[in-house]
Amino acid sequence: MIYLDNAATTFPKPMQVNQAVQLALQKYGANPGRSGHRMSMEAADEVFRCRSAITKLFHASGEECVVFTLNCTQSTNIVLKGLLKPGDHVVVSSMEHNAVMRPLQALVSRGVTYTQAQVYPGDNDATVHAFRNAINAKTRLIVCIHASNVWGIRLPVERIAALGHEYGIPIMVDAAQSAGVLPINLQDSGIDYLCLAGHKGLYGPMGTGVLITAKGEELDTLMEGGTGTNSASYDQPPSLPDRFESGTPNMPGIAGLRAGVEFVSRKGTEEIFRHESQLILYLYDCLSRMHGVTLYMPRPESRYFAPLLSFNVEGKNSETVGQMLSKNGIAVRAGLHCAPAAHQVCGTLETGAVRVCPSVFTRRAEIDYFIMTLGKIIRK
Ligand code: ALA
Repeated sequence: MIYLDNAATTFPKPMQVNQAVQLALQKYGANPGRSGHRMSMEAADEVFRCRSAITKLFHASGEECVVFTLNCTQSTNIVLKGLLKPGDHVVVSSMEHNAVMRPLQALVSRGVTYTQAQVYPGDNDATVHAFRNAINAKTRLIVCIHASNVWGIRLPVERIAALGHEYGIPIMVDAAQSAGVLPINLQDSGIDYLCLAGHKGLYGPMGTGVLITAKGEELDTLMEGGTGTNSASYDQPPSLPDRFESGTPNMPGIAGLRAGVEFVSRKGTEEIFRHESQLILYLYDCLSRMHGVTLYMPRPESRYFAPLLSFNVEGKNSETVGQMLSKNGIAVRAGLHCAPAAHQVCGTLETGAVRVCPSVFTRRAEIDYFIMTLGKIIRK
């Protein structure tokens, strides 16, 4: 299988990730932080190593700010539902994934309102201006995807964070698609809540997500339970990360995520970005010369785009094209990518689109095979 569905989840994982998961299960598969025995302590050490690796990669202000979750969606839910109260207003971008739009919509029934700020690809001034216009006296939070999982469009999160802080409004960034591919520095970006998927560009296993924040104590909890700390009390510990880490964690997954984050740190996000961007620019140039292919974005220059690309074939449903590619041994994702808002912006809500996303392991020959196969599908 030529796997070009890395925006949904990266595959394959680096060998070290597979090994770390296996080792965790075989050698120290005990409950971390719950018991005093050797295996439990080794498991806790592994969890801490992962917190440390994430702290370093994203320049978080301390390991305690790194909260492990099930996925990026759980991270966005913790922030949105933990912070927002009836009467609050939220500004979101027009490109948000359902990981933001659905919890937000659920909050509408509890008296929260929101405004979608238009994103202008390639014109960050216009995008920031749209965010400014959407702010009102009740705005309690700005929410912004870092890179669209459909179009790859990069949002100027640092500028939007600075805008929010002008008004005393915090910003939550959904970096599911960008973590590990675009640089994110929490020391100078102004991001208050950073939500991450572990299984995409960080090369961890599925079932791993992260929320990084120094402001977690201001959020109400969605879930309470055992943390292995303050066990005599029925009250949820107020401090991070325990406040949001009730119940036995996905320790083998976290071990794999640690190996994935170390892999990314060693390679460097710049190098990963350079490799994937070259492939996407090559693909874009080939597709733009192909008769019958609709491209929705300008050439994805690095400043404005993350390395992924969506398109359609004239006269063919996107999901049909996805299935035909699959029959030819190519994995992509077609349809709406759980992001109807992003599709609405480009008028593809009815048709969906075919999305291609390389990883650090994708080779140019695989893109060539994809282009040749797509050519055959178009001619059929
Ligand atoms: N959010 C993931 C995607 O874009 C699953 O495919």
